[in-house]
Parts: sequence; C-alpha cells; structure tokens
Amino acid sequence: MLVLGLETSCDETGVALFDSERGLLADALFSQIDLHRVYGGVVPELASRDHVKRMLPLIRQVLDEAQCQASNIDALAYTAGPGLVGALLVGASCAQALAFAWGVPAVGVHHMEGHLLAPMLEEQPPQFPFVALLVSGGHTQLVRVDGIGQYQLLGESLDDAAGEAFDKTAKLMGLNYPGGPEIAKLAEQGAPGRFVFPRPMTDRPGLDFSFSGLKTFALNTWQQCRDSDGDLDQARRDIALAFQQAVVETLTIKCKRALKQTGLNNLVIAGGVSANKALRESLERMLAEMRGQVFYARPQFCTDNGAMIAYAGCQRLLAGQHEDLAIKVQARWPMESLPAI
Ligand code: KG4
Ligand code: ZN
Repeated sequence: MLVLGLETSCDETGVALFDSERGLLADALFSQIDLHRVYGGVVPELASRDHVKRMLPLIRQVLDEAQCQASNIDALAYTAGPGLVGALLVGASCAQALAFAWGVPAVGVHHMEGHLLAPMLEEQPPQFPFVALLVSGGHTQLVRVDGIGQYQLLGESLDDAAGEAFDKTAKLMGLNYPGGPEIAKLAEQGAPGRFVFPRPMTDRPGLDFSFSGLKTFALNTWQQCRDSDGDLDQARRDIALAFQQAVVETLTIKCKRALKQTGLNNLVIAGGVSANKALRESLERMLAEMRGQVFYARPQFCTDNGAMIAYAGCQRLLAGQHEDLAIKVQARWPMESLPAI
C-alpha cells in the first residue's frame, strides 16, 4: 500500500510517501522557523497561511523524487491532532480533497502516535512491548506500549513539556526559537558544576513530571548573572549546561522507574527532545546497566515530519481504518482513546 502522508500540526510542513512493501520512498519538509523567529515563538495564523503556500509544491516534489504518479497512490494520511487547529485544517482539507479527487481513502493520524512510531522507520525497529518516553514541544509522557493503539499512560508533565521548558529557558536568555537545539549547542561549552539545578519530582514516587520550576530557576540564575559583572556569554553556556543536565537526569530517573514498574527493558524515545545528544547518551548508559536497549529515530524524524504520519497512517489503513468525508481535527486528543489495531 502506497500512502502519501501530510503533517501540518505546528510550524513544519511535512510530506512523505511510504510504501508498506518498499518502505519510505521520499520525504520533504519545509520548516517555518525563520518566519516565526522574529516573534520568539509560533504565530498560529502565520503558520496556517504558510502551510497553504507550501503544501502542493512539497507534494509535487515528493512525487517527483519517488518517480511516482498520483494514480499510484492508494491512500492519504494526515495529522488530525493534537496541534494548532488552523494549521491542522490545512493538512486535513488538502488530504481529504486529494482523496476525494483520486477516489482513495484518507485517515487522520494522531501526531504523538506518529512520533511514537517514527523509530519503526529505522533499520532496527523496536519490538512491542516497550516503554515510550514522548518528549516534544507540547507533550512529556511516559507510555506503556503493547501494540499500535495499545497505550497505557504511566505519567506526564503536570505543567510545561520538556521541549517547552527548553524553549522558554532559551528565550529568557535572549536565544533564538526553537530553544532546544540552541541550549544543546551552548551546553557543550558550559562549565560543569558552576550551577546546579533541581531535579523536579524525583524525590517522591510516581512517574509525573514538572518542568515549569526549572525555567524560574533559570530566570533567577540569569538575573543574578546580569546583576554581577561577569561574562554573560559564559553564563549562558553554564546555565544551558546546568539546565540540560537537570532535564536529562530527571527524564532518566523517571524512565528507569517506568521500566522497573512495568518489568520491561526496551525504551523508545520520540519527539523533538529525543534528538538531544545528552539525553540519548544518558539513557543509553542507563539501559546498558539494565541490559536493555534504547531506540530512537534519526534526528530529522525526531522533530515533526511527514514520514512518521505516512507510516502511522499506513498501519491504520492496512487495518481497515479510514475517515468519512467530514474534515475533523482536534486541538486536544488523548492518545489512549485511539483504537487498537
Ligand atoms: O516534536 P517537535 O518537533 O514538535 C512538537 O510536536 O512539539 O518538538 C519540538 C521541540 C521544541 O521544543 C524544540 O526546542 C525541541 O523539540 N528540540 C530539542 C532539540 N531539538 C528539538 N530539545 C532539546 N535538544 C534538542 N537537540
Ligand atoms: Zn511533534
């Protein structure tokens, strides 16, 4: 089955062609980062308008790259939520219109299920069951995964998502959006031990997270540095390192707890923050001690992309699922409500 996947939940227009027999044939992405950077974050209306502008040229590009005719496409998959409603509607309308015109089915995909299944596109995909750590700009969740659509939420962030905490901490130090990669880059030159940030909610049982206090801690530390007349560039690097270490250690502690609680020893990490090198290394060390394995997607499939939507949609289409003609998207959508296949 050849599936054209469209991703438009936030500030990335992603398009990909996935074939159930031959794998990923082509994928293309247009990132709106430059468009939103001047505002320090995503402006929803600008995001929607830009998706409209980019979508059809990207679809043409992907079809050309895969040397594929529209008539070969068996189905469409699009992100139906969670995300920015206006942005989601662009992908949903486009997918439903093409599906109607081509006489093929279309399926709405849950964005976080897309992230969760992205490591399946790699050479050594994880086997069910496993624990998944989903860490993106909007979500931080630990999930027990027994199969596609068999999700048990083990814990989640009570306030900011991990990616959001990276973005906010970067912004308060005057760094560019998105802050995750900026902080990661600066942290490489940070002096270990100059600042020590708390590890929120690790001193009590449970698998929930809270990251908003770290941003406040970063703000206070940054203000103290500005009030003294030290080197502010070095202060940024040292805060970036201390902040990243706190997030990474907190996530590692909770993942270890989730693996112990479930008795599983395979961990999947997915979502934008799973591109973070320090996080990957820390989890790899922990899993090596537990004689388990950690799985993640290549960096460009950790952040938003069309390939994960084409893949996840293909699995659901193969199981016989598809939408009717109504164009439905959801800003909020609990992943546990998805049907099992
Ligand atoms: O999954 P994603 O592309 O979009 C959402 O679904 O939210 O995740 C974006 C988030 C942003 O907050 C970004 O700062 C963060 O992922 N991110 C990173 C890194 N690359 C992206 N955070 C830490 N380290 C990175 N290398
Ligand atoms: Zn995402």
